[in-house]
Amino acid sequence: MRKHIVAGNWKMNCTFTEADELVNGIMEQLEEKELPRETQLIVCPPLPYLEMTTDYANDSYFLVGAQNVSDQERGAYTGEVSAEMLESMEIDYCIVGHSERRQYYGETDAIVAAKVDRLLAHGLKPIVCVGEVLEEREAGRQLEVVKRQVEQGLFHLTAEQMQEVVIAYEPVWAIGTGRTATPEQAQEIHAHIRSLLAAKYGQALADEVSILYGGSCKPSNAKELFACADIDGGLIGGASLKAEDFVAIAMSF
Ligand code: 13P
Repeated sequence: MRKHIVAGNWKMNCTFTEADELVNGIMEQLEEKELPRETQLIVCPPLPYLEMTTDYANDSYFLVGAQNVSDQERGAYTGEVSAEMLESMEIDYCIVGHSERRQYYGETDAIVAAKVDRLLAHGLKPIVCVGEVLEEREAGRQLEVVKRQVEQGLFHLTAEQMQEVVIAYEPVWAIGTGRTATPEQAQEIHAHIRSLLAAKYGQALADEVSILYGGSCKPSNAKELFACADIDGGLIGGASLKAEDFVAIAMSF
């Protein structure tokens, strides 16, 4: 069975003290509530807080992910953080191709593909984000856009490598807008992604890849989204900054 995953993307939020409080809040919530065994919780704080978060998590409460990684291996790339560094800190996951990085930092499908390669070479699992912008949805191009992103970002991988990848469908018009995709809209794209994987790698492998939904996911709508056949969890932005909401979402399977 596919893993259920709920990952919190804190984006560029929290001071060190706030981050410390949030991690502790999540651990308190997890002590109170029993998370189903098959649900994997992942916390993706800003880079400076990775060490603090991994120290607390100690692999027992949740796994830790980074929000970004360099597409280069190592060397003179001021300000960048490499997959090798993340590996050396025992970070498990890393978000790649988030729409905010595609939109504001020029992350192309080719860069996404290179980052995925770096991560896999260092034993990290990429959480690869795809999703159409509003104009593309209004023009009925969402299937085509997501297909291009999946093919160009991931289809150079071997089947063995593909098994390490998590995909997140995040319709850009639903991110931070309070406008969530309906379960039907999300399920359609998730099924589409899975059929692309099946055509390229076979149904058995496609059935093993976790595909997460992201975009204004909150405790009040997580249940109906996670009930969809091809939605295996969520990539949570705003609601992951409140420990109670984040854990409530993870309890929504
Ligand atoms: P929101 O949950 O704030 O809409 O953000 C979703 C997201 O971008 C997660 O990566």
